[in-house]
Amino acid sequence: MIPTVAERVQFRVDRFQYGRMVEEWGGRHILHGRRPGPDDVLLNHDDYLAIAGDARITEALCIALLADAGASSDEPQIAMEQALAEYVRAPAGVLCQSGWEANTGLLQTIADPRTPVYIDSIAHMSLWHGAKMAGAPIHPFRHNFPGHLREEIRTYGPGIIAVDSIYSTTGSRSPLAQMCDVAEQTGSLLVVDESRAIGTEGPHGAGMVVALGLAERIPFRTASLSKAFVGRAGFVAVNGVDFVDYFKMEAYPAVFSASPLPHEIAGLAATLAVVRAEDSRRDRLRQISARVRGALSALGFESCAAAGHIMALPGGSELRAIAIRDFLEARGIFGTILCPPVTPRNRTLIRFAMHAALTDSQVDRIIQACTEVRDTFGVLPPMPGAPRADSAPIPTVDSNR
Ligand SMILES: Cc1ncc(COP(=O)(O)O)c(C=O)c1O
Repeated sequence: MIPTVAERVQFRVDRFQYGRMVEEWGGRHILHGRRPGPDDVLLNHDDYLAIAGDARITEALCIALLADAGASSDEPQIAMEQALAEYVRAPAGVLCQSGWEANTGLLQTIADPRTPVYIDSIAHMSLWHGAKMAGAPIHPFRHNFPGHLREEIRTYGPGIIAVDSIYSTTGSRSPLAQMCDVAEQTGSLLVVDESRAIGTEGPHGAGMVVALGLAERIPFRTASLSKAFVGRAGFVAVNGVDFVDYFKMEAYPAVFSASPLPHEIAGLAATLAVVRAEDSRRDRLRQISARVRGALSALGFESCAAAGHIMALPGGSELRAIAIRDFLEARGIFGTILCPPVTPRNRTLIRFAMHAALTDSQVDRIIQACTEVRDTFGVLPPMPGAPRADSAPIPTVDSNR
């Protein structure tokens, strides 16, 4: 008998419940570990500068919430777009509801079935999704490997190149200057997702593109403002001012989904001022990250060699990752398990995101716990796509998240 639609949907739910929860994860949800207490060290959030709850931001949010929101105008949004564009040294930009909407909207409006999209194999899923929405042919290239990208463009022609400046899974950094060279020499357009770099890298946190002096060479930059900016928004920075009106009338997330709310914009404006001003937090973050990264490298966790404030231990199978997570949590260290569909199967990662409020003794505890992980579980080779991976094979499609 042919299954009904409802049965087919239920089959998919059951496959998750029994196939993954029961068989792969031993009966518990992989993301549900111990509940953290006040003495635990949390490396599982993206508040890298430790500004969530800052009075300057919460006050701005509250004032805007209490104000009469009846008369709506797009002036605050336009002013915020100009402020963010000026911050990242771009001529113009568009505020979006999230980093996901920024990337999907951008790719949908610049790619098309005749314009191939070349995506770094571990670039964020939203870039892949936007390229799919545009109906563009997608050609993944080996992580951080401009030579392979060049070969692909030679075969399939000029198109859009999409990379993250800092990759969200491993924390590795894109060789952006080389990516600009390839784009310019092949007549392609480069898109750089700065979600994990905005706020933490560059002058006053303006991002890696600005830090490297590449702003004028990169026509499109995107960012989630839910990481160091601790909000719920995204941004597309563009080098062509006239792109803004085009995007607002053509990008589906801009047309078919509500714009950021007035209090969200007020919160973002206050956050931008705080992020800009907090150089000392960025310095502290760099200091902490360098110390932990150096210690992890010395322990043999090679995937950390080139990482910034984000670093990840290879976790292997999902059951092994759960065991390492529980082991770390028993020592008061909370990271994030990344598993399929974020990583390929059996290539889980346990990600640590450093933040500026960590004390020296908490950093000692992180290093001590990782030493014990190494002694108890050993060290797995880094996943393809980790910083050392220029010679790695291209990951399978389900790894492209
Ligand atoms: C590199 C990158 N781009 C885009 C996004 C999506 O951002 P948002 O959570 O604001 O939708 C993320 C979030 O994880 C990310 O890491």
